[in-house]
Formats: sequence, structure tokens, C-alpha cells
Amino acid sequence: MAQHIGILTSGGDCPGLNAAIRGLGKAARERYGMRVTGFLNGFRGLAQDQSIELDGAMLSGILTDGGTILGTSRDKPHRMSIGGRMLDMTDAVCATYHRHHLDALVCIGGGGTQKNALRLIKAGLNVVTLPKTIDNDIAHTDRSFGYDTARQIATEALDRLHSTATSHERVIVVEVMGHRAGWLALEAGIAGGADVILLPEIPYSPEKIASAIRARTRSGKRFSIVVVAEGAMSVEEAAKVDSLVRARDKADSKKQRAEISEKLNQFHAEHVGHTIRLSQTLEKLTGQETRLTILGHLQRGGTPSAADRVFATWLGTECARLLASRQYGVMLALQGNQLKSVSIDEIAGHKKLVPAEHPLVRCGRLVGTCFGD
Ligand code: F6P
Repeated sequence: MAQHIGILTSGGDCPGLNAAIRGLGKAARERYGMRVTGFLNGFRGLAQDQSIELDGAMLSGILTDGGTILGTSRDKPHRMSIGGRMLDMTDAVCATYHRHHLDALVCIGGGGTQKNALRLIKAGLNVVTLPKTIDNDIAHTDRSFGYDTARQIATEALDRLHSTATSHERVIVVEVMGHRAGWLALEAGIAGGADVILLPEIPYSPEKIASAIRARTRSGKRFSIVVVAEGAMSVEEAAKVDSLVRARDKADSKKQRAEISEKLNQFHAEHVGHTIRLSQTLEKLTGQETRLTILGHLQRGGTPSAADRVFATWLGTECARLLASRQYGVMLALQGNQLKSVSIDEIAGHKKLVPAEHPLVRCGRLVGTCFGD
């Protein structure tokens, strides 16, 4: 009997989501004769049974569109705000899955989506995931779609900021996305010739950054571009976070763990906007006029790059093949130049961070980039 599959997109949107939906939907329908239903706004659409039939017309003309035709959200099945209350909607999600007589559900998302997918697998559903995120931090895959486009947008921004920085002889601090992982800052920084790159994985000292900027000025280069990942931290801040994480891991009671987690959340909430303080500090330390540009959601919007279109289409079509052979519980990952299926329980809860000794960090250092350490 023909299979019926559900698709949802979850977490932050990114370029390439529609290409993945189209690749999966077309291959599933036209090659394997499956019925395809899209659930709206991430896991909320499953919890509240909001869906649309993904027929030929819905799947047509969307390859180049940014965002997602299905809508997305950061809702989690086990903790969803419904009418102002936080409810466990796992049973409702499973009920929708069974009401639609789905054979499998495809969740297209980032790190959080992998964790939610694992919860649904444990609740008895057949789930497959595809990796998307501009952070490129999903474990076991060399790449996630959306990343290439974001890296290109950030690089173009750096190119533009160079000419204004030189004209005014200014320091320009550029904040790019990346809370825990610094891939985007690292690669856009190298592509855009940044003079300083600050990553969440390498704690920085403002004094060391200022001294690199002063050295540039002395050598006649009277402008500097400082690329900062939104999650980059000073040595002191990183030490504070480290000690909280260690205390949480050693906590004896659930209550104590919850209190420490709350402190960590508060730290991260207060850290938002830290680049404003950093640029003020650099202006003071260098005596050079400094400006801040936050690229924000510009990095996630608009049409996907050719590389992301190809990758997302490949993931989608390969996913249809996987579903046709009734393989579930896996994420499709790029390893080398092949797509491999990796068990979701090996991915959920893990992040692919930038190793401090990564070859690209060495590459940056060899062209004279300061990493703030
Ligand atoms: O989806 C990943 C990401 O773009 C991160 O780089 C960023 O920190 C976060 O999402 C922003 O989330 P939101 O759009 O929910 O503010």
C-alpha cells in the first residue's frame, strides 16, 4: 500500500527549507507514489492538527524561495505554550500522527529538532530528520543546509563594511549569529579578511584585541574589522559559565540543578547585546572611533545559494528513497561526499563545535588574524 508521510520544519528558519520540502515531496509523490502532508509551524501543527496536502501545485515554484512554506516555530512537543500554560503535548502529537495514518514523519531542523525527534521516536513514531541550520553545528554531519547562504551573506556584509571602515579609519565590530558554535564567524571572517575573529569556543581578552588593532594602526593600516559570534565570551565570562556548568553537573538534587540552570539561562539572556559593550571597550582601549553592525536575521533571510539548493534537494530526494525502504530513526548526514544515515540518538544532545586547533583557526592565524587569545 502507498505510504503516507508527514513533513514539518522546526526551529529557526533558513534558506533551503523550501528546496528540501520540494525535493522530498516531488520524489516521494512522483517516484514512490506516496501521499505527502505538511504540518504547519513546527511541532505545533502536529499538536494542534494543522496541516495541508502537499500536492504538485504546492511543491511547484518554491525552489528559490527563502523561509518555509510550512511555517516554523521553536515549540517542543513535551513543553508547549497552549492558552498561556506550558503543557506536555506529546500525546496530542502522537494522536495526530495516528489520526492521519502516517507511516513516517520527516522533521527538518537543527539541534533542538533532533532532540524533539528522539522524544517522538521514544513515543513510538517513525521519524527521519534532515539537518538545517545556519550555525552548521549539528553533530555527525559535515554540513547543514542554510549555512552556505548565511556565510555568503555575512561575507558580502564584511566586504561592504571594509570600504566604510577604511574611509573613516574606524574599527567596525560585526556581530554574526552563532550562540555556541563559531563556524559562521570563523569562515565568513576568513572569507571577508577580518582582522579579528572572536568565537564562543576561544575566550578572548579585550586587551589582546586592542593590542592587535594598535599594531595594525602603527603599521599604517588605520582601520580594523572585528567579527564576533554572538556567543563569544571574554576569559572571565567563559570561566563563570564553566564553573556554573561544572557545579550543575555535580549538583546532588534536582532542585539545585534547576537553580544553577536558571543562573546559566540568566547569564545567556544578559549576554545578548554584549557586542555593544565590547565595541565601547575597544574604542576606549584603542582611542580609535568604533562602530557596531549586528547582521542578525539578515543572515537567515532570502533566496538560498546554489550550494544550499543542491544540498537541500539532494537531502530531500535521498530522504524519499530512505522512506521507501522504510528506514526510520535516522538523520541524513553529509560525510565526505556521501549522504549517510546516522541514528538520531547519536546526534540529539550533541553539538559540533569549532575545535580550538581546527585547521581553519590555524589558517586564520597564519594570515595574521587575531582570535583574541
Ligand atoms: O537557528 C539558529 C539561529 O539562527 C542562531 O544562530 C541564533 O542564535 C538563533 O537562531 C536566533 O534565534 P531566533 O530567530 O529565535 O531569535
